[in-house]
Amino acid sequence: MHTLLKFITCGSVDDGKSTLIGHMLYDAKLLFADQKEALKLDSKLGSADGGIDYSLLLDGLTAEREQGITIDVAYRYFTTDARSFIVADTPGHEEYTRNMAVGASFADLAVILADASKGVLTQTRRHTRICALMGIRHFVFAVNKMDLVDFSHERFKKLQKEIRILMAEFPYDSVELIPVSATFGDNITRCSSHMPWYHGMPLLAYLENIDTGTQNAGTGFTMPVQRVCRPDQNFRGFQGQIESGSVSVGDTVTVLPSKESANVRSILQGSLPVKTSSEGHAVTLQLDREIDVSRGCVLTKDSQLFVNQLLTVSLLWMDNSRLAAGKSYFIKTGTQKVSCTVLRIHYKTDVVSGQEVPASVIYTNEIACCDIMAGTDLVFDTFEQNKALGSFILIDRVSHMTSACGTITRSLRQDSHLTWQNMDITRSFRENQLGQKARTIWFTGLSGSGKSTLANELEKYLAGLNKHTMLLDGDNIRMGLNRDLGFSEPDRIENIRRVAEVAKLFNDAGLIVLTSFISPFAADRRRAKEIIGEGFFEVYVSTPLEECMRRDVKGLYAGARSGKIEDFTGLGSPYEIPEHADLTIDTTGKTIHECVQTIIQKLNL
Ligand code: ADX
Repeated sequence: MHTLLKFITCGSVDDGKSTLIGHMLYDAKLLFADQKEALKLDSKLGSADGGIDYSLLLDGLTAEREQGITIDVAYRYFTTDARSFIVADTPGHEEYTRNMAVGASFADLAVILADASKGVLTQTRRHTRICALMGIRHFVFAVNKMDLVDFSHERFKKLQKEIRILMAEFPYDSVELIPVSATFGDNITRCSSHMPWYHGMPLLAYLENIDTGTQNAGTGFTMPVQRVCRPDQNFRGFQGQIESGSVSVGDTVTVLPSKESANVRSILQGSLPVKTSSEGHAVTLQLDREIDVSRGCVLTKDSQLFVNQLLTVSLLWMDNSRLAAGKSYFIKTGTQKVSCTVLRIHYKTDVVSGQEVPASVIYTNEIACCDIMAGTDLVFDTFEQNKALGSFILIDRVSHMTSACGTITRSLRQDSHLTWQNMDITRSFRENQLGQKARTIWFTGLSGSGKSTLANELEKYLAGLNKHTMLLDGDNIRMGLNRDLGFSEPDRIENIRRVAEVAKLFNDAGLIVLTSFISPFAADRRRAKEIIGEGFFEVYVSTPLEECMRRDVKGLYAGARSGKIEDFTGLGSPYEIPEHADLTIDTTGKTIHECVQTIIQKLNL
């Protein structure tokens, strides 16, 4: 049976990777007759010297052809007598790093093009690092354009040295350098007569013979459950792909995170019953007893998977909006998808030099090391142990676009030793004691919009009604509990998180809480709402910026305009308008009393 090799080609714009693969297909006679004719015709139109332009074979997308560059991931399938291949051809430019990461995530091997005349370039380093991050452990450096350097052995040896130094930084199982000329076909399918000093295989033969083996170090059986299949009353099967190890009828398997166990009654590979199945196969498992299994659970045997909420990861940031600690996403690993928060950013890695640089914010195409906290227990492994359960993506909670992809480097264990203690004196007990319903009235709006004034008046009114309240005010909290925080994006996120946690505690104490914070970011307000839960009421004080600047009670707008105050909301830092506030109130031209009355009516106290 043919084995399959999935590989990616990476190179800069002019390195000639499409030409390389195109030439390989052409020489290996893997084209249909009409494709060959079309290629000859197209080449006549496109290339100056009338020779065949092999890159036209690969650049299938119209936009690519027009721009002369590859803009998406193009997957090609081809089969030789020895092996089947899927090749992901991806763009080289920095702005398409995410496309490359997607291509790399599927591949077992990377063919990285280096230009013999230029040596190891910044892009070569970037491509290698991204492939390594996405888990590729087999590398082939196709040293191209040897024809331009007179097939010089000296030149090749120089590159060999540069590449050896480069690879010292990465974990790998194999590295090979092959001197080629993509345009003329040297060392592509046949050994080149121009380079007698090269004794290795031509590229295609190398790709046909390399054993990329199994990449999972963990030997235990793991299968993330993709689907529970229940065609009738008598059959309940769990479907998914075996990501590591093997399983046989009669084996005892454990389902994570619940840790319940059962024995395997039957295994179906497709519709075929088998006694045993192993890594890479899609199967349906039937167990001998009813246990609670749903999509996202992982069936295991003899494996050491982590079941935990806290993990350290290495990620490639692909979103156009930046990443800051405290932001929430969905994390998807295996077949699980749960909400999560990026707790802290340890550092970012300079994609070219590999240096670890301290950072609080991560921008598009940067690589960072972060701690992530999942909303519920996650079943995972380190990437070194298990490729499928050690890799993940982060998904934006609003747009549902993929914001990042990466690998899990370790599990942070401390959280698994914490257990929530339920106390006998509960929130509702305290509410009854105080004769009121606890809630949080969250004021948001620009500085000077009137939040604190309204919150203060409302609290006085509530006190008059004998209600028990607590007012949390931005400036005051920042002079105490949050005095370690400034006004950068991560600090504002942390400010709001702490305030939400404090409001929740006061609510648990039965109090009505009023908060007055700019809380400029929609995602943070949404998270505050999630933390506080029941009784959250958002008041957007929508007084326009011009009016706030006119009032400028604290003289801060003047300070911000003269450049003395940085990141001032509304000027140097954004305010995201609430789209679904429970109440919106513009204080312009209204008395405080009128505004408070509006709030009271809406609150229905
Ligand atoms: S928030 O953005 O993190 O929610 P918060 O409400 O706690 O801000 O604090 C805002 C108050 O801090 C403002 O009312 C103002 O008095 C003061 N302040 C000082 N510097 C800034 C700044 N750069 N941006 C906004 N407010 C600032």
